[in-house]
Amino acid sequence: MKSNKNHSRRNFIIGGLAASGSVVAAKALAADDPAITEKQPWSNELGDGVDVRPYGLPSKFVANVKRRNVEWLTASTESSVNFTPLHELEGIITPNGLCFERHHAGIAEVEPTKYRFMINGLVGKEMVFSLQDLKRFPRKNKIYFLECAANGGMEWKGSQLNGCQFTHGMIHNVMYTGVPLNLLLQEAGIKKNASWILAEGADASAMTRSIPMSKALDDCLVAFAMNGEALRPEQGFPVRLVVPGWEGNMWIKWLRRIEVGDKPWHHREETSKYTDLMETGKARRFSWEMDAKSVITNPSPQAPINHARGHTILSGIAWSGRGTIKAVHVSLDGGKNWRSARIDGPSMKQSVHRFYYEFDWNGQELLVQSRAIDSTGYVQPTKNALRRIRGGNSIYHNNGIQTWHIKKSGEVENVEVS
Ligand code: MTE
Repeated sequence: MKSNKNHSRRNFIIGGLAASGSVVAAKALAADDPAITEKQPWSNELGDGVDVRPYGLPSKFVANVKRRNVEWLTASTESSVNFTPLHELEGIITPNGLCFERHHAGIAEVEPTKYRFMINGLVGKEMVFSLQDLKRFPRKNKIYFLECAANGGMEWKGSQLNGCQFTHGMIHNVMYTGVPLNLLLQEAGIKKNASWILAEGADASAMTRSIPMSKALDDCLVAFAMNGEALRPEQGFPVRLVVPGWEGNMWIKWLRRIEVGDKPWHHREETSKYTDLMETGKARRFSWEMDAKSVITNPSPQAPINHARGHTILSGIAWSGRGTIKAVHVSLDGGKNWRSARIDGPSMKQSVHRFYYEFDWNGQELLVQSRAIDSTGYVQPTKNALRRIRGGNSIYHNNGIQTWHIKKSGEVENVEVS
């Protein structure tokens, strides 16, 4: 191609690289590159008109970006989990269609006109709200992460699953729109001795959790929208409870009832499940808050380094149930030396933070790790440090440091260095 247009484009590319300090060794403009020299169909033909996709979907070229489950984990998909593809995401917001799902009795398809939300127990006036009633209360918009307490549970005894989607993908981070629970409790008028609530779901598992009144009045939301649209059925349409910073199991979906009481109920999900069996044979209970945690999402086993040695971007996410993330440190040598990563994007309490570490990869093997420090000063521990305190039986609350082994080929494997 000899036209002036192409010469000026080449000058622009070369000029651009010089100005930016040429961090990436871009290929010289190849006159025989068919992606440039041949006219592509999308430049030749009309594309679809408006209304072909009245509710838009991602490009067909990213069809591999999806939630995935681990088939051998559960006997059926109705009581199971799938995982957020963290290695495919940017920024801090999880797209609604990629939020991991955890159901105990499948997805309840609640008809909104038949939806009712009840408050009963130690209240002045027992009340029932329709969806429309709830939408007449003042509402708030808040971005929070939801992490299942079992996130990383399969890794407690050693590295097992090859991909951050599976080791860390029981987390999502979206903007909720909802009514502060304290407004609804005020409406019902809580009695003097009321100190706990029981939240109950309308699905066939009738999921229930006890929550201290102090948390219920502080920051819980009765949410009906996520990322600007109605909750997805998988996430509890039409209404779910939002319990910022606390384990995902308490975020009751398809919320149908809140009972007010003066003591916890000790139901299944807070006794035989979601407690941590210690070496003594006793179980730690009410471990609600999610500790600070981080993971490098790229590179990672499902997202190897796909270029030769040179400038590389390491990226990941960090979060804490107790506040914001103050710093993230990155190690390239299995925790011997640590450097500061750059946090970019909004830093909000109980929300995911995005970090980057840019470096020149010399083509050598690396053991990459990240370590989060939250606004309380808490430092994410190694897996061994966790086991020293909690022993070997735990499933829940594994916030230990993750190691990825980057091979000379750029492939990445899940290993443990503790
Ligand atoms: N609420 C009801 N009603 N039924 C459920 O099965 N699963 C809980 C919680 N709320 C569940 C529920 C668990 S264990 C988790 S981790 C979160 O919902 C998962 O939320 P998600 O499916 O939006 O990711």
